[in-house]
Amino acid sequence: MAMSTQNQLIKNFSMDDLIRIRGGRKLNGEVTVSSCKNSVVAILPSVVMASEIVKLYDVPEIKDVEILKKLLGLLNIKVTADGDELTIDPTEIINVDLLDEDVMKLRASYYFMGALLGRFRHVKMYSPGGCNLGPRPIDLHLKGFEALGAKIKQDGNVIEIDAEELLGDDIYLDFASVGATINIMLAACFAKGRTTIENAAKEPEIIDLSSMLNKMGAQIRGAGTSEITINGVSRLKGCIHDIIPDRIEAGTYIIAAAACGEDVTVKNVIPQHIEALTSKLEEMGVKLEQGSDYVRVYGNDDLKAVDIITQPFPGFATDLQQPLTSLMTKAKGDSHVEETIYAERFKHCKELNSMGANIDCETGNSYIHGPTPLHGTDIFATDLRCGASLVIAGLMAEGLTTIHNAYHIYRGYDSIVEKLRALGAEIE
Ligand code: EPZ
Repeated sequence: MAMSTQNQLIKNFSMDDLIRIRGGRKLNGEVTVSSCKNSVVAILPSVVMASEIVKLYDVPEIKDVEILKKLLGLLNIKVTADGDELTIDPTEIINVDLLDEDVMKLRASYYFMGALLGRFRHVKMYSPGGCNLGPRPIDLHLKGFEALGAKIKQDGNVIEIDAEELLGDDIYLDFASVGATINIMLAACFAKGRTTIENAAKEPEIIDLSSMLNKMGAQIRGAGTSEITINGVSRLKGCIHDIIPDRIEAGTYIIAAAACGEDVTVKNVIPQHIEALTSKLEEMGVKLEQGSDYVRVYGNDDLKAVDIITQPFPGFATDLQQPLTSLMTKAKGDSHVEETIYAERFKHCKELNSMGANIDCETGNSYIHGPTPLHGTDIFATDLRCGASLVIAGLMAEGLTTIHNAYHIYRGYDSIVEKLRALGAEIE
């Protein structure tokens, strides 16, 4: 970006869009992980399928949740918050068209497609937005709806999906897409007969959503495996649900602790959800202690270069490759990131290079040559996990780092500034 455009951008943002970090402080103490963003953003739209009140506990305070609450409001669903508890009353739902710009502010608004199609056999809404990670088609979602009997019309940015009736079918996904698995699962809850999703995604968020839907009376089996079966039902009732901890937030704090910590305990973690990360960190030389619901990280400045390949769960999560790249700048030797999910998810590398890193990038790959000390400067969060990687880099860097476009970070990290400050970071 030309410097003048960048300066203009800086002028246009309010102070809320900046995170400033004076790096070099050692992190110590405990940090508690919030509930899972990618679960809650599927759970909230799925509430349109309930005929009774749904109560959710431990809902994270993040921007994506705020936007989804507004979209539920447009459908005449009442959402009442009491701290981190949400009471959602869908009993007077009206299936209006979701032609509101908020739909385009996040990816997960596409879950209204499956949920409203299932419940009302009709949905009209804008295409979803979300982080700019290169092309993010939704063809697998739409093919799945068609297999269940829906007809789809697309006019520019508007998608309209109708079905006289939905009939269960056997659906094979060409790729184990998280979004397509969830969307088809939602619509299939109200399809007649049995739907099978083969080559389904196995992410923990899918298990969380299916366990909530089953509490509501759905009949879903096999979530968390590559074959999910759904026997359609005609009605879903209300339920009370606790959302699982956020494995990507947990991973982010564990990486931050590995980069700048002396002795940090990350609490409210399901260690099995982040094994691909923790085993990679151990290979780098990070000392970890794992309990049933925590990971304790001990600082170590003598880190080795490693290679990672991002893959669907249980492989190394694409959402953690950007944060891990910041730590890799500290490791001795050449690290390699092969990104198989989003070939263009490398915008953080340019920002890290401006802080003194030595990273080469090409489509699908980045090569990190370390160790390189980082220095503070003005940098730009271009997407959520780019933002997380820059926060970690800012903690590692000497001097003052100013992260612009920090709103990307608040989309997915509850109280990140407060949590890091409590660990001893100088951050505002
Ligand atoms: C989910 O996105 C997450 N988002 C992403 O989290 C995460 O990076 C991604 O899964 C992979 O784990 C939410 O849960 C809201 P996909 P999703 O469908 O569902 C291709 C974060 O930082 N594909 O599994 O959109 C697609 O282009 C984020 O929290 C098709 O080709 O991911 C990509 O290459 C960002 N056609 C791959 O599949 C389709 O119809 C994986 O996408 C659908 C996907």
